[in-house]
Amino acid sequence: MTETKQITLHRPDDWHVHLRDGQMMQAVLPFTAKQFGRAIVMPNLADPVATSQQAVAYRERIYATLPEGVKFEPLMTAYLTDNTDAKDLAAGFKHGVFCAAKLYPAGATTNSASGVTDIEKLSAVLECMEDIGMPLLVHGEVTDPDIDLFDREHVFIDRVMKPTLNRHQGLKVVFEHITTSAAVDFVRSQGPRIGATITAHHLMINRTDIFKGGIRPHLYCLPVAKREQHRLALREAATSGESQFFLGTDTAPHAISAKEAACGCAGIFTAPAAVELYAQVFDEEHALDKFEAFASLNGPKFYGLAPNAETITLIREAWVVPDSVAVGDGTLVLPFKAGETLNWRLSD
Ligand code: DOR
Ligand code: ZN
Repeated sequence: MTETKQITLHRPDDWHVHLRDGQMMQAVLPFTAKQFGRAIVMPNLADPVATSQQAVAYRERIYATLPEGVKFEPLMTAYLTDNTDAKDLAAGFKHGVFCAAKLYPAGATTNSASGVTDIEKLSAVLECMEDIGMPLLVHGEVTDPDIDLFDREHVFIDRVMKPTLNRHQGLKVVFEHITTSAAVDFVRSQGPRIGATITAHHLMINRTDIFKGGIRPHLYCLPVAKREQHRLALREAATSGESQFFLGTDTAPHAISAKEAACGCAGIFTAPAAVELYAQVFDEEHALDKFEAFASLNGPKFYGLAPNAETITLIREAWVVPDSVAVGDGTLVLPFKAGETLNWRLSD
């Protein structure tokens, strides 16, 4: 069999990204905007994006930060709280401000303190979202301190996801950054009203990698990577071509000083090589023919959007991921696979 030397596909979208704000956004946004046509922008800023007014202002800051001549569309999300105003949410959705709403169980992850304390409190909001066809994006981990960290996604399926889907039979849901074979099986069992994003890092590392030769803070994220059998299940799902699974990097930059600390932040910064990392996985799985579905077609289909009209080309060519990315305030961010060689490169 001859080796594929290059592939051309509809420009992909990133269905889960943390663009942050201010100087951090200035440093990281160009990487996402260079590769992706659109991105679902997470609302977990230090001051969460909870209202349509806040989303409009944040979207303006994103557009103002985009490098000259770069075409990129941020798709905004609402940060759900115990006090979310369903009317504001619905108006934001109707007027194209919000594309979806994000459920962070309170305390589950970075900047989730104002998240939802009990999903029951969201009943009216979810009913409204169901009525208007607004997707719910879910950080699927329980926050119960008695549940082992590595079991929190699996337990969430039974305790929260199933009852919520049962109660809201028409609600569209994205199970974000899935990390377990249980989540893969569950998503498949539910049919097309539920989708799932899969990150590049969860396709590449397992929980043992986080402790290889010592503790590796830059491989710590939430949900945390699981056992090898789960990584393999994610690879199988992503490369299956099935329309429920699509690309969402969950690129989550933190200053090196915040990662390499006694209590380091969760988040892996994959944006500098996102498309290339995924391409490598699909190549390793002999599934490059399924890459376009995962990266460029399944996501838009779920969200009821057309695929991007433009294309990108990836070339089989070695390049080295940058050692670090500088933020204007003098801090540095470390990319996933920093200093390592990848064998697919995005053509300019
Ligand atoms: O690892 C993570 N980092 N997981 C999340 O859910 C949030 C994210 C962040 O914002 O840093
Ligand atoms: Zn995230």
